Amino acid sequence: MSTTSVRHHQMFIDGGHVDADEQFEIISPSTEELVCTAAKGTVDDADRAVEAARRAFDSGSWSRKSPEERSQVMRAIADRLGEEADELCELEISANGATIRQAMGFLVGLAAPHFLYFAEQAATYPFETQIPTAAYPTASSNRIRRDPVGVCAAIVPWNFPLLLGIWKIGPALAAGNSIVVKVDEKTPRSLLRLAEIAHECGVPKGVFNVITGEGAEVGARLASHPDVDKVAFTGSTAIGREIMRLASGTVKKVSLELGGKGAAVLLDDADLDVAVDGILFGCMLYSGQICESGTRLLVPDAIHDEVVRRLVERASTIKLGDPSDFDTDLGPVVSKRQQERVLGFIEGAKRDGVTVALGGGVPEGPEFEKGFWIQPTILTDVKNNMEIACEETFGPVLCVIRYSSVDEAIKIANASQYGLTAGVWSTDYERAIEVADRLRAGTIWINNWHQIDPALPFGGYRQSGVGRELGPGALDEYTEAKHVHVDLTTKLDRHIFDALLSTPPSS
Ligand code: NAI
Ligand code: MG
Repeated sequence: MSTTSVRHHQMFIDGGHVDADEQFEIISPSTEELVCTAAKGTVDDADRAVEAARRAFDSGSWSRKSPEERSQVMRAIADRLGEEADELCELEISANGATIRQAMGFLVGLAAPHFLYFAEQAATYPFETQIPTAAYPTASSNRIRRDPVGVCAAIVPWNFPLLLGIWKIGPALAAGNSIVVKVDEKTPRSLLRLAEIAHECGVPKGVFNVITGEGAEVGARLASHPDVDKVAFTGSTAIGREIMRLASGTVKKVSLELGGKGAAVLLDDADLDVAVDGILFGCMLYSGQICESGTRLLVPDAIHDEVVRRLVERASTIKLGDPSDFDTDLGPVVSKRQQERVLGFIEGAKRDGVTVALGGGVPEGPEFEKGFWIQPTILTDVKNNMEIACEETFGPVLCVIRYSSVDEAIKIANASQYGLTAGVWSTDYERAIEVADRLRAGTIWINNWHQIDPALPFGGYRQSGVGRELGPGALDEYTEAKHVHVDLTTKLDRHIFDALLSTPPSS
């Protein structure tokens, strides 16, 4: 296929489309066909976008609009995200290989409601709080104002580009900031469309820019740019560390949402009909390419064999195939690199002595000759200190780990560099809550997985990140707290200036 027969996507800077000299080729993960091309932005484009964002911020075109006005524009954007869901699904899944059912339920289906949540936050967030008059040290009236931080940068990955972009764009815009978004080079399409929609709905030029380019070049420039006040990142823990280092030069605000190795603790009283399906949903959805996936399963010794048998039986029914087909359960992984990475982890696990109870390789058949496929894989005899149980695999790979007491299960679950999510499967809610309270992770799901609500905070303990996205505090990360003190002490002798000036004023 020649490059002239496919669509070309330009960047979106300062209210208009901007092209680059070079291009990225975007390849379908399921067919390896060329889907489209996209501008390959450079450091100069990053600088131009930051300049535009700063100009817009200083002009007040968005930053000094009333919260209600910002809320109205954002509501219109949320409506459009709902109206254009079908087109957005196509843009998203053609590049990242998610299935149409996943896209409708999660990747794109959640975009409009999550954006709407931030539109509502724009109107209801306490931008100004009056504190009751204080008499000490001097009589005063005090206000806490939350100001927008200024120019924000967002660096987003390929797995949920639209949604993870919205988790940053939403609070940034609600608070009155300007933003520059760096999309992953493989998946620019849906966020570029969001930038167009936002401008059609009334976001002024320069406020919301989307650039493309290599992470190490363009992303790194944003993270270190002296005129960027805050950087928000979702991606690998390794790059998260790098972002933090780059941001330290100008002491930027940083929020990071990084890797995970979610542990699902199956208690011996769980309803296995629900738990078996739920565990597979928690681990295998989108081939496990979700930071919050439940990839370690902790099973009591007494029911281990029965649970593994049922998991294998059920996982064998998962249908791999064309992501755009409504009958498909599981698509490919995103890239050749990702496929090799996951297969490498599985080979390492075999060397470490695990048993492959299901899958473990590339599916066979003519439909899998092209594309980046991996079989749903269940590994048993996994020890928590093996690489496969420590590292984020980002593949459809479930690690089954045995335990003999609930205390031991909790200890294993918490023994991880990550702490993004964990879960408990049980029919005894009081017991499940006691376990949940002892699990050290940002989200704990009892008898479910992947339940992400924009009104509830999301983020990680330990090396899963810094800060929280979503929830009532989401805008805190995109604002600076400012204390305004209005002194009401009128008489000089009631002031405490005598801490410095001991001699009374001469009359
Ligand atoms: P990555 O962390 O390299 O990429 C994420 C984003 O960071 C992309 O937009 C990329 O262009 C950008 N980036 C890369 N290097 C950068 C740098 N030096 N400075 C600034 N920005 C940079 O992740 P990648 O390579 O796509 O996947 C590798 C692994 O990372 C996966 O196997 C998975 O374990 C993890 N990952 C976790 C995600 C999550 O949701 N927490 C999302 C994507 C990947
Ligand atoms: Mg942390």
